[in-house]
Amino acid sequence: MKNPAINIIVAVAPDLAIGRRGDLLFHVSADLRRFKELTMGHPIIMGRKTFESLPKGALPGRRNIVISRNRDFNAPGAEVFPSLEAAVAACSGTGEVFIIGGAQIYSQAIAVADRLQLTRFDRTVAGADCFFPEISADTWSPTACSEWAVDEKSGVRYCFETLVRQK
Ligand SMILES: NC(=O)c1ccc[n+]([C@@H]2O[C@H](COP(=O)([O-])OP(=O)(O)OC[C@H]3O[C@@H](n4cnc5c(N)ncnc54)[C@H](OP(=O)(O)O)[C@@H]3O)[C@@H](O)[C@H]2O)c1
Repeated sequence: MKNPAINIIVAVAPDLAIGRRGDLLFHVSADLRRFKELTMGHPIIMGRKTFESLPKGALPGRRNIVISRNRDFNAPGAEVFPSLEAAVAACSGTGEVFIIGGAQIYSQAIAVADRLQLTRFDRTVAGADCFFPEISADTWSPTACSEWAVDEKSGVRYCFETLVRQK
């Protein structure tokens, strides 16, 4: 069966930070909306810690797949696989999948991803403890880039960018 196209979806600060103390850096409603639009109907693959950070558990309307070395990990509404490779293999025959984090899973997935869906924030956060790997311009070409906008609630500026792996 055909392998799915692998998307990474992530929101990064200028220093590529993505999280602090198990939570996101910013909760920007436009970012959460875009996340929902892009991932809805597609399998989402995440690390065990990211699954545990979801405020209401498994995300509806999507096949939730969790990666854990603990075969007995209880993930209501989700399936558990022992590796990224096994998780992606379980999605063969599907058009595309979304890798939704966190840092450990992104660092493994960037080598095999076809597309990056980035949200860029213009602000760093002191004490950030999780980072996205380097996005090499030799490997990744931007294909779409939104204007910068301001999140009214937090004041943080953000934009959306799509990058594809160079052939
Ligand atoms: N900004 C964003 O877009 C974004 C998106 C998602 C998450 N985040 C943030 O990222 C942080 C969480 O990231 P994290 O790196 O700490 O954790 P994570 O990647 O979500 O999960 C790590 C866990 O995944 C499992 N795992 C990792 N590699 C594995 C492998 N090769 N084989 C089997 N299992 C494997 C292990 O689970 P077990 O310990 O159970 O074996 C490991 O403890 C949070 O702060 C979260 O808010 C940010």
